[in-house]
Amino acid sequence: MSIQENKGMISIKRLEEFKQIVGDKNVMADEESLNHYGHDETEKLLYLPEVVLKPGTPEEVAAIMKICNEDLIPVTPRGAGTGLSGGALPHLGGVLLSTERFNSILSIDERNLQVIVEPGVITEVLQDSVKERGLFYPPDPSSRGSCFIGGNIAENSGGPKAVKYGVVKDYVLNLEVVLPTGEIIWTGANVLKNSTGYNLTQLLVGSEGTLGIVTKIVLKLIPFPKYDLLMLAPFASLEKASEAVSAIFRAGFTPSALELMEIDALKIVSKMVDSTAVPVDDSIAAHLIIEVDGNNMDVLMSDMEAIAELLTTFDAGEIFFADDAQQKAELWKLRRRVAEAVKSSGYTIEEDTVVPRAELPKLIKGVKELGKQYGFQAVCYGHAGDGNLHIRINDPEIKNSYGSEKMNTPLRALFDLVYSLGGTISGEHGIGLIQKGFMDIVFAKANLHLMREIKKAFDPNNILNAGKIFDIKG
Ligand code: LAC
Ligand code: ZN
Repeated sequence: MSIQENKGMISIKRLEEFKQIVGDKNVMADEESLNHYGHDETEKLLYLPEVVLKPGTPEEVAAIMKICNEDLIPVTPRGAGTGLSGGALPHLGGVLLSTERFNSILSIDERNLQVIVEPGVITEVLQDSVKERGLFYPPDPSSRGSCFIGGNIAENSGGPKAVKYGVVKDYVLNLEVVLPTGEIIWTGANVLKNSTGYNLTQLLVGSEGTLGIVTKIVLKLIPFPKYDLLMLAPFASLEKASEAVSAIFRAGFTPSALELMEIDALKIVSKMVDSTAVPVDDSIAAHLIIEVDGNNMDVLMSDMEAIAELLTTFDAGEIFFADDAQQKAELWKLRRRVAEAVKSSGYTIEEDTVVPRAELPKLIKGVKELGKQYGFQAVCYGHAGDGNLHIRINDPEIKNSYGSEKMNTPLRALFDLVYSLGGTISGEHGIGLIQKGFMDIVFAKANLHLMREIKKAFDPNNILNAGKIFDIKG
């Protein structure tokens, strides 16, 4: 790991004040803690903060922000540290503000199908709690067993269910936020429709912790669908698999998940979790995982049959239908652990490209061509139904892509391709630290200027997660 340190911004007096605000045990500056909070899941990057603070109330966050705003101390908010774009990396040192003590589900409103939750609740814990009441919160990033709902808000996360149910932004109704200057506000109202002024709620969603620190979240819920069916279709050609994706929608179906896994990714993850659930023989180039859900089993069965038949026209091999909950869980486990598996096998660089769904075959073909041209190996997987392709790159000579000229050239070529296909450079992981150098590909100067002005309006002293999304100086 490359270590960057920034020390000496916080005076002894201020450290004492922090201790009074959050309590001694919630102020940490020992080496182990600084190392732990100095990295997330982004490549192998490590930046040590000067101190880690764990406030437990919005008022404590506000008091911290007021001090940092006065002394111009950088503050980096952090959820569970599962991010892939470096949003939670304290690259300027200063205060690392962990939201882990905000870990309560405050209320589940079954009359209105809403939940009020704190940002440090694990996404899967939230999903399971509302499911007990027959309710559904669909956005389910692969890391849902460990990521925090607050981080999902910051990145506007997606996951496999997004293809039918939408992403985080589609569920956020209202947010309590501590502004960088220390005021505490609610951004909207707990209502399903809202045409009242600028939509600050949606501006905060996906703002990557640069505009405020979210301390309460009001989410819309929907009834939990009674049934789901899952199938796995192998393809001898990656291109054919990706062509089949948009054909499914054109034929009138909306699966609740439509994922693609290239065979190399599947081989790696099968080995890591010691699973033989999915065939990985050399005649297969990729699999599609297709799920349908709803309340009428007959409809689901006939949809699955019709989709399977359609897939044969794209030369799908023998389709496997998951029979029971255990088989479904095994398939989903393989899919959810792909990112972790390919990263640990050397594919450390990850891109989160997204194109209009029908352009997916061109993107995949282009990625492979770029690999040949620039001498890297790429393995693809992701949310094909959304046109959202995760591309993991393995170049043994490059440990970290961020800032490295050798990697920036092929990445720029990749993002140029994505943009030329009508796409953009992040679908669900955010820009954070590592993609900010490519924002000029997809935005005009006027767009970036507006974003900087918005940042200034929220954070005049540029203390909150500064240098994320765009550089400090434009
Ligand atoms: C996934 C995460 C990495 O799709 O977004 O597995
Ligand atoms: Zn994903």
